[in-house]
Amino acid sequence: MKRSGKNIKLAIQKTGRLTEATLQLLKNMGIEFEMYKDRLFTRSKNFDLEILWLRDDDIPEYVQDQVCDLGIVGENMLKEKGVQVTILERLGFGKCRLSLAVSEKSPIKKIKDLSGKKIATSYVRSLNDFLKKENIKGNVIGIKGSVEIAPMLGIADAVCDLVSTGTTLRTNGLKEIATIFESEALLIQSPKLEKAKRKNIENFLMRLQASIRADSTKYVMLNAPRKALKKIQSIMPSMSSPTVMPLANTEMVAIHSVIPEKILWEFIEKLKRAGGRDILVTPIEQIVI
Ligand code: PRP
Ligand code: ZN
Repeated sequence: MKRSGKNIKLAIQKTGRLTEATLQLLKNMGIEFEMYKDRLFTRSKNFDLEILWLRDDDIPEYVQDQVCDLGIVGENMLKEKGVQVTILERLGFGKCRLSLAVSEKSPIKKIKDLSGKKIATSYVRSLNDFLKKENIKGNVIGIKGSVEIAPMLGIADAVCDLVSTGTTLRTNGLKEIATIFESEALLIQSPKLEKAKRKNIENFLMRLQASIRADSTKYVMLNAPRKALKKIQSIMPSMSSPTVMPLANTEMVAIHSVIPEKILWEFIEKLKRAGGRDILVTPIEQIVI
């Protein structure tokens, strides 16, 4: 593929576990593009960006070999392929783990019991590395898809596969015995980048980080008696410096602050106990710092 100019080429998963969240992220970043049914390649209408829709398995190598400048891909694929790329950002979605699992009735209980056993996986490299590290001589059987049915078919004693919700394991009567690694979606960059693209990538990254930051936070507004202000300020998360505004009723103030979503409810309970009321919570679109 010919590479030129300042247009960034971004590889994303065509269909799969990361696709929906990836598209939502690009949308939150204000990047617009057409969606075609049999798409392979799309050019953004308002950003110097070309999107390549690929199988997730191919993304690490495409980015390493500079066919694409950037890629959004699971850490699992990156580890399995063992490529040389730069991780620009952890994206916080597509969380899963690579695990070892056996049939619920299996006598295999711990990883040492895997010695001499057949283990089916499409993560041959990751599994081999793990077995080597644990000093276990297993018999690794590489298969492409539907690894979870291998024990039922009698072709393996155990599987090594990705687990996200755990539904696939449960429906196939399997239970986890060990986790090899945890994974989430990453933004990766080609090791060598043309100079002309750098500024553009900086802008892309600024938008992406602003969207990610905003996604994990809420904007909280409330009214409180002026005399409760000190107490309320003391329960604010350390990073946030609240905005305090007078109200027509001089005994009251309005307080605004950005709050991490994961502590939101705990924070609201504390606010109420401290005298806060009329509490409004709204989403934030972008946080540029
Ligand atoms: C993985 C894995 C399981 C499933 C587990 O496949 O191979 O089939 O997800 O998810 P669960 O715990 O939520 O049931 P994936 O969707 O990544 O497809 P791929 O390996 O073909 O890309
Ligand atoms: Zn895949």
